[in-house]
Amino acid sequence: MDFESKTAEELVRWTFQEHGERASISCSFGAEDVVLVDMAYRQGVKFRVFTLDTGRLPQETYDVMEEVRRKYGINVEVYFPDRERVEEMVRRFGPNLFYRGVELRKFCCRVRKVEPLARALNGLTAWVTGLRREQSETRAAVAKVEVDQAHGGILKVNPLADWTWEMVWDYIRSNGVPYNKLHDRGYPSIGCAPCTRAVRPGEPLRAGRWWWEEDKKECGMHF
Ligand code: ADX
Ligand code: SF4
Repeated sequence: MDFESKTAEELVRWTFQEHGERASISCSFGAEDVVLVDMAYRQGVKFRVFTLDTGRLPQETYDVMEEVRRKYGINVEVYFPDRERVEEMVRRFGPNLFYRGVELRKFCCRVRKVEPLARALNGLTAWVTGLRREQSETRAAVAKVEVDQAHGGILKVNPLADWTWEMVWDYIRSNGVPYNKLHDRGYPSIGCAPCTRAVRPGEPLRAGRWWWEEDKKECGMHF
């Protein structure tokens, strides 16, 4: 199938029609992801949503999670990191290990996000993400549908791959979609509280993520 010519709505509908219970939206409750949830709801398909609660999320993220649960009447499938792994990591390296270098930062992302992601994807044949090409150089080449070799060859569907930031916000506003209030305070991209800050006008969309690091600001979930 020529996935690249499909609209975001068509891709969301196709994923859940084709993969049913074996597909799920990977939702951080950022602007892109609430669009995907709203879209799935409006398509009238049965859909699933999971989120990775790292244990370090901002309160605003829990607030929008609650709003989404209520508005759409859905169960958000929450995955936490492995307790023993977190205890071991924090006892050894302290609570703020991420500021002490890229290695420790990536270790924290692995324990709190990447490993729980593998559990969340276990048994799925497709996952839906809010990745967009415009977000960064690392993401400039994402396809709308790709085979995810890092996760056993399941499908990774990126319906908003060719959407601009303006399109995301047009959708949110015209459909009254609940969104993370940190977006109103200068946060285009939102991750964990200690690793995310607001950006200045004109700065790249992901400049506030791991802002103390130089390049390749990724947590290992995608690349
Ligand atoms: S990250 O790799 O830097 O954290 P980003 O925040 O841009 O990623 O999000 C990209 C996509 O990854 C989101 O649209 C969403 O599909 C998925 N994602 C990121 N964080 C989470 C999370 N905590 N829970 C579930 N999915 C997430
Ligand atoms: Fe840890 Fe920061 Fe990665 Fe969150 S974003 S998992 S707190 S290093």
